[in-house]
Amino acid sequence: MIIAIDGPAASGKGTIARRLAAHFDLPHLDTGMLYRATALALMDEGGPLDDVERAVAAARGLALVDFDETRLRGREMGEAASVVAAMGPVRAALVDMQRRFTLHPRGAVLDGRDIGTVIAPEADVKIFVTASPETRAQRRALELKGRGEAVDYAAVLADIRKRDERDSHRSSAPLKAAADARILDTTDLDIDGAVKAALAIVEKAGG
Ligand code: CDP
Repeated sequence: MIIAIDGPAASGKGTIARRLAAHFDLPHLDTGMLYRATALALMDEGGPLDDVERAVAAARGLALVDFDETRLRGREMGEAASVVAAMGPVRAALVDMQRRFTLHPRGAVLDGRDIGTVIAPEADVKIFVTASPETRAQRRALELKGRGEAVDYAAVLADIRKRDERDSHRSSAPLKAAADARILDTTDLDIDGAVKAALAIVEKAGG
């Protein structure tokens, strides 16, 4: 069974994807980490983020292991990831790696922005997780605070709006729900409620 989870920043898609993967004992790929790791590799080289050729080389050089989660999950890297993720050639360089992940004999859970539309249009279940920008900013501010990053709510809300805008309007694989995705609005749900709703969608789809 392939489960595709897409949605905007801090909608809860990552937590839902992890919990579904544990529940169904499936491998899980957080595809945002690929774009974050590409951005981090470029920044560590000291080059500009908008150099497409070097960004593609960085994307090609990624290995699915050894991700430095602490640095990758930071606020700065989310923003930088969204810049390199808007480049068509960078996305193309990361397709095979993601496609291979879907070929696991038992299936897989992938979360990102274009899983149901581009990476796994054949997925058995597609869920588009969303929530109001204000709720998402509150969650992300709490998460970053918990990780020791001093950020204020207004700055995080501004980041989220900017990222929504960039991710939704880029020409290459923009953030949008697949025509056959179920929309899951988590604005008024806590984590357990959101996971329960996602499980119900999968079970209804025959998972
Ligand atoms: O948790 P959050 O949504 O903030 O971050 P993420 O899922 O790690 O994604 C970071 C950025 O990578 C997003 O803003 C997108 O621009 C990009 N991304 C993408 O374009 N396609 C994906 N499949 C996953 C992430």
